[in-house]
Amino acid sequence: MRNYPIITGRKIRFALVGCGRIAANHFGSMEKHGENIEIVDVCDVDRASLDKAVQRTGAKGHLSLTEMLQTTTADIVVLATPSGLHPEQAIEIALSGRHVMTEKPVATRWHDGLRMVKGCDDAGVRLFVVKQNRRNATLQLLKQAVEQKRFGRIYMVNINVFWTRPQEYYDSAKWRGTWEFDGGAFMNQASHYVDLLDWLIGPIESMQAYTGTLERDIEVEAVAGHLVQDVVGGSVHDAEDALDAITRERLPYAAHHGNGSGNGRLKQ
Ligand SMILES: NC(=O)c1ccc[n+]([C@@H]2O[C@H](COP(=O)([O-])OP(=O)(O)OC[C@H]3O[C@@H](n4cnc5c(N)ncnc54)[C@H](O)[C@@H]3O)[C@@H](O)[C@H]2O)c1
Repeated sequence: MRNYPIITGRKIRFALVGCGRIAANHFGSMEKHGENIEIVDVCDVDRASLDKAVQRTGAKGHLSLTEMLQTTTADIVVLATPSGLHPEQAIEIALSGRHVMTEKPVATRWHDGLRMVKGCDDAGVRLFVVKQNRRNATLQLLKQAVEQKRFGRIYMVNINVFWTRPQEYYDSAKWRGTWEFDGGAFMNQASHYVDLLDWLIGPIESMQAYTGTLERDIEVEAVAGHLVQDVVGGSVHDAEDALDAITRERLPYAAHHGNGSGNGRLKQ
């Protein structure tokens, strides 16, 4: 395992690229930890978003990442840009010798994610992906219980993500709902839960998925369901039995006017 020098005796310096919606959460967290960290530079290609971020943080503003990297004193650069931009930007930051903290999803293509990991390893910097749901108090307790084998062998995990994204959300920026820069419901919204599956019961051996683009004018899938099998030897037969029992007890539904779940046995 590689050892990275620990920063002591001064505040850790951050820069952030992409001053849109989620950047506000990063600024909020940085403000909260102001005793230990400072934000020195912010960057956005959109002048209005940049000006707003400069006003909030007091950091120096830049309209280009390349230009920012020439002068910034940041130890870590946060990527809060459209997902499809993360790979090239992460590698550029790594080559400049700074650690990278990227928003989820790490990338929109598997091989791009691998390139990011390699780029950061080769440059001797850390790559951290934001998966804040792992820090959720209930999930921390569940993780501990799983690790302590409280449930024994787990045959089935059922995760429902009943979030709604109206057409206006997809229309709010050009990159949303595209394969290149966003990915669909799995890649964007449900990626936290795909991650939780792997974190709680992984590694995952194989998966099958059904996807559909219903009622939304976008390239990518708007709804999806998937079944995964873990690596430790539970047979698909076991999983199917469990699935049968559970679907009979509890039927989740997503409908035009809302989502929910009904309990009780389905009529055969
Ligand atoms: N962790 C979470 O729960 C969570 C929640 C929301 C979004 N996200 C992720 O954060 C990222 C951004 O999402 P968002 O909702 O804030 O998007 P957004 O569109 O609101 O913000 C993106 C910003 O990046 C800027 N930008 C675009 N190209 C740029 C470039 N080349 N250089 C610098 N800036 C550039 C845009 O002008 C915009 O201000 C996405 O990867 C998304 O998946 C994570």
